[in-house]
Amino acid sequence: MSEGRGGFTPPAKPEAIDLFAGLAGPAYSRRAALLSMGQEPRWHRILVQRLPVGPDDHVLDVATGTGAVAERLVLAHRCRVTGIDQSPHMLAAASLRLQEAGIAQRVTLLEGEAEHLPFDDATFDGLTVTYLLRYVDDPLATLRELVRVMRPGAPFASLEFGVPPRALPRAAWRLYTGAVLPAGGAVVGGRRWWHVGRFLHRSIPDLYARHPLPALLDMHREAGLAELRVRRPSFGGAVIIHGVRPA
Ligand SMILES: C[S@@+](CC[C@H](N)C(=O)[O-])C[C@H]1O[C@@H](n2cnc3c(N)ncnc32)[C@H](O)[C@@H]1O
Repeated sequence: MSEGRGGFTPPAKPEAIDLFAGLAGPAYSRRAALLSMGQEPRWHRILVQRLPVGPDDHVLDVATGTGAVAERLVLAHRCRVTGIDQSPHMLAAASLRLQEAGIAQRVTLLEGEAEHLPFDDATFDGLTVTYLLRYVDDPLATLRELVRVMRPGAPFASLEFGVPPRALPRAAWRLYTGAVLPAGGAVVGGRRWWHVGRFLHRSIPDLYARHPLPALLDMHREAGLAELRVRRPSFGGAVIIHGVRPA
């Protein structure tokens, strides 16, 4: 992967896999919620609400991680879900979560890469994806691959961290991600989570330095999505993009 602005180099695939191997576990979502000051569950809720699917539909959840979004999809829409992730460790935590929630029979978990999805064209009735584009070499090609497996007319919803656009929240965000997040990470999860805090402080702005939000939206259109809408909850600390693959 090429170096972004400010000397930050996004992690290559083996580093990304290693990063999440160290974080995976039943405590993952609790720690993520704590470190986002309780905001992440709310972002997941908004994401899932933006995907109009029903009990007969089959949704693909890309970068499913520990399965938090997959679980919410089933509980909110009663749909069937396939969750795919390149980290076997995260998937093991997802499997445990879904069994404990009593919904494992509604979710198929699969190890695989978003860049090369092991599905036929137009397989899914809806698609969600969380925090993926900071980890891929070619976001446009990856988005095209996601759209390929959606049937025409299927809805799309994605969640990524954001950098608040307004000066005061942005200054607070910089302070929070630069100092509070690493320190809080160390307290709740030790060295690995300290590293996550430091990593996010650079990785999130790096995404938008390489691909400002308007360019990212153009990329979604070029990949084949339409009717795009953006929500930026928590002063812009998250970016939720939703739309549809035109029929
Ligand atoms: C922040 S986590 C997602 C968290 C998840 N939504 C949850 O609630 O547990 C990002 C996930 O993206 C996965 N990932 C990163 N790059 C990927 C790729 N190219 N293909 C598939 N999964 C990928 C990581 O393994 C990780 O589980």
